[in-house]
Amino acid sequence: TMSPVNSQVIITEVAPRDGLQSEVQWVPSEIKQHFIHLLQEAGVPEIECTSFVSPKWVPQMADNQQLWLGIHKKPGVSYLALVPNVQGLHLAIESKVEEVVVFGSVSEAFSLKNINCTIDQSIDKFSKIVALAQLHNIRVRGILSCTLGCPYEGPIEARQVVKVAEKMKAIGINRLGLADTIGVGTPNAVITLLDQIATIYPVHSLSAHFHDTYGQALVNIYACLQAGVRRFDSSVSGLGGCPYAKGATGNVATEELVYMLHGLGYHTGINLEKLIMAGDFMRNYLKNTNNSRVALAYLAKRS
Ligand code: HMG
Ligand code: MG
Repeated sequence: TMSPVNSQVIITEVAPRDGLQSEVQWVPSEIKQHFIHLLQEAGVPEIECTSFVSPKWVPQMADNQQLWLGIHKKPGVSYLALVPNVQGLHLAIESKVEEVVVFGSVSEAFSLKNINCTIDQSIDKFSKIVALAQLHNIRVRGILSCTLGCPYEGPIEARQVVKVAEKMKAIGINRLGLADTIGVGTPNAVITLLDQIATIYPVHSLSAHFHDTYGQALVNIYACLQAGVRRFDSSVSGLGGCPYAKGATGNVATEELVYMLHGLGYHTGINLEKLIMAGDFMRNYLKNTNNSRVALAYLAKRS
C-alpha cells in the first residue's frame, strides 16, 4: 500500500499555454480566462497560463499581460508562465507573475529552431533570469525539450540529457521538467533516463511532460510513477503541440491522466467531471475534436 504522501500526485495543467500556443485561430483573452477559471474550479493545483515570448514567434500568446490581469486567482493554486529571456521576465514581473518556467532543449537543432540560440547561450540567458527572479522573489523552474528524441536530430542519448541537466542545476534551477516533445519515448527509455538523471535531480524535484503523438504517454507516466515521479504536465482534452516541432500533437489528456491516477489510488484533488467540462468548453469554442477518450466516453454516456 502507498503512504499518503506518496499517493499525492501534482498535475500541472498546460492547456492554456501548450494547448493553445499553436492554435491558428485567435482565442480572445476572456475565453482563455474563462477556461483557466473552469480549470481551477475543477481543482487543478497548477496552471500554466501563458508565455512571455515574442508575439512574432507565437502570436496566440501575444495577450500575455492582459490575460494575466484578468485571472481571478484562487488561493492555493500556482499560476505559471514560460519565459525565454530577461525581456520576457520583465514583462512577467510587471504582470506580477510569481513563478516562471525557463525552457531549454537537449538538442542543439531544436534549441535553435525554438528559441533561436544554442544550448549554452540559452543556459546563459536562464542564469540571468534566475538572478533577476531572485531579486523579485519569483520562483523559477526549468524544462528540457527532446529528452527522448528530437524532430531534427532523431534519437537522444540519456547522457546528453544529463549533460544539459547538469548545466541547469549549476545555474540554480532546482526543479526540472523532462519533456518528450514529439512523444516518441517508450518506458525502458524513460526508466534509463530517470535512473541516469537521479544523481543531479532527485526524483522529487522532477516532473514529466509527455506529448502523446505515438500513444505512449500514459504508459510512460506509469513507468515514471513506478520510479517515484509524482509531478506531471498534461493538457485537458489533449489540446496542443509545439509550433517548432513538426508533427508534434498535444500532451497527454489530463482526463486520461486523472482517470488512470484515481483508478490506481492516487490523489490529485481534481474533480474529473468538472475537468471534462472545462475541456469541452474550449473544444466547443475552437470547434474541433476532443482528443481525450475519457472525455468522449463521458460525454457520449451523458447525452
Ligand atoms: P530572437 O529573435 O532571437 O530575440 O528570439 P531577440 O532578443 O533578438 O529579439 C527580437 C525581437 O523579439 C525584438 O523585437 C524583441 O523585442 C522581441 P523587434 O525589435 O524585432 O520588434 N522579443 C520579445 N518580445 C516579447 N517578449 C519577449 C521577447 N524577446 C524578444 N520575451 C525568442 C528569441 C526566445 C524571443 C524567440 O525565439 C521566441 O519567442 N521563441 C518562442 C518559442 C516558444 O514559445 N516556443 C513554444 C514554447 S516551448 C514548448 O512548447 C516546449 C515545452 O512544451 C516542452 C516540450 O514539450 O518540449 C515547454
Ligand atoms: Mg510541450
